[in-house]
Amino acid sequence: MPGQPPARRTVLKGAALAGAAGVGAAACSTESKLGHAKTPTPTAPVDLGAADAVPVGGAKLFREQRLVVSCPAKGQYKAFSAQCTHAGCVFDKVEGTEGNCPCHGSRFDVTTGKALRGPATAPLPEVPVKVTDGKLVAGPDA
Ligand code: FES
Repeated sequence: MPGQPPARRTVLKGAALAGAAGVGAAACSTESKLGHAKTPTPTAPVDLGAADAVPVGGAKLFREQRLVVSCPAKGQYKAFSAQCTHAGCVFDKVEGTEGNCPCHGSRFDVTTGKALRGPATAPLPEVPVKVTDGKLVAGPDA
């Protein structure tokens, strides 16, 4: 049948991708391809670089570190997990002071951690943050 081989390839390709995603999640210690992580907040201090990279009155997403830092006023910083409390995806962007989850569209106020739009309802966990020599450090001992 002429139509059969392509359809079969599609099925096999889908199965292979599902398998690869499963292996990735099991083998990776910090996060899978979707950005899911075992713990939503750092277990050790994380260096986030220059504090002045966070705009005053705005926020900056540190996607690799799964953190978002807001700066409500000069010299004041607040850090939250950037991992959505719905199903654990990491934000893809921050617009102003709103963090956006790419998976199902939840939005969070990254100055308070509050969920602004569902499906997520739980707030983002806050993470201690401090400035040392002009650099932001977030995490348990910050
Ligand atoms: S994981 Fe973020 S909205 Fe579902």
